[in-house]
Amino acid sequence: VILTQDELKKIAAYKAVEFVESGMVLGLGTGSTAKHAVDRIGELLRQGTLKNIVGIPTSKKTHEQAVSLGIPLSDLNEHPVVDLAIDGADEVDPDLNLVKGRGGSLLREKMVEGACKKFVVIVDESKLVNYLGGSGLAMPVEIIPFCWKFTAKRLQDLFEDAGCSAELRIENGEPFVTDNGNYIVNLFFKRDIGDLKAASDAILRIAGVVEHGMFLDMATTVIVAGELGITVKNK
Ligand code: A5P
Repeated sequence: VILTQDELKKIAAYKAVEFVESGMVLGLGTGSTAKHAVDRIGELLRQGTLKNIVGIPTSKKTHEQAVSLGIPLSDLNEHPVVDLAIDGADEVDPDLNLVKGRGGSLLREKMVEGACKKFVVIVDESKLVNYLGGSGLAMPVEIIPFCWKFTAKRLQDLFEDAGCSAELRIENGEPFVTDNGNYIVNLFFKRDIGDLKAASDAILRIAGVVEHGMFLDMATTVIVAGELGITVKNK
């Protein structure tokens, strides 16, 4: 049997939900993979298998989904320590560093997932890369709308050596606007950007940048679903 990508996402998501225990404060991720995990948590709550869960959603979309499932919700103000977060990723490198945010929710994801004791990432095997940026797909950076072209140019210039091009994320002919009222600039690289920590620091030093989609040294477990089964990688 050949499984579809969505079936693989669901397998990884259900596996991750096995880590959830009653009484936990849970970070609820965003995207097509995390959606399966949130659905499953809702189902286990309804069945009574899980009790006393508090969810902290990482986007308005996940907030809506969780409300529709009857998952009790709160925020980081009330619960500054999160027991476990489950979320998807766009890229996973061999050290379990991630690119996230192609769904546009990277800022809230980074805030919630940075506050959790365990961060379980769920992906199908297509997300595995040799180095971040290596999929050739976008590495998103959330920036403020004010003079966005100027900020995009500064980001592109920063990674000139890696053959970077910076493009504003457009949706339905308009700039895509995040849950926080910001824009997203997608970075594309022709070559490896090298030292990720240095790249992260340099991006964050640019005024106008709010946050970027590299999640370095944050994942504690990555669950990969592939045609040949599930692989669990621990940090
Ligand atoms: C949302 O902003 C992202 O960080 C998602 O977690 C990431 O894009 C993975 O999404 P999919 O599970 O839909 O591939």
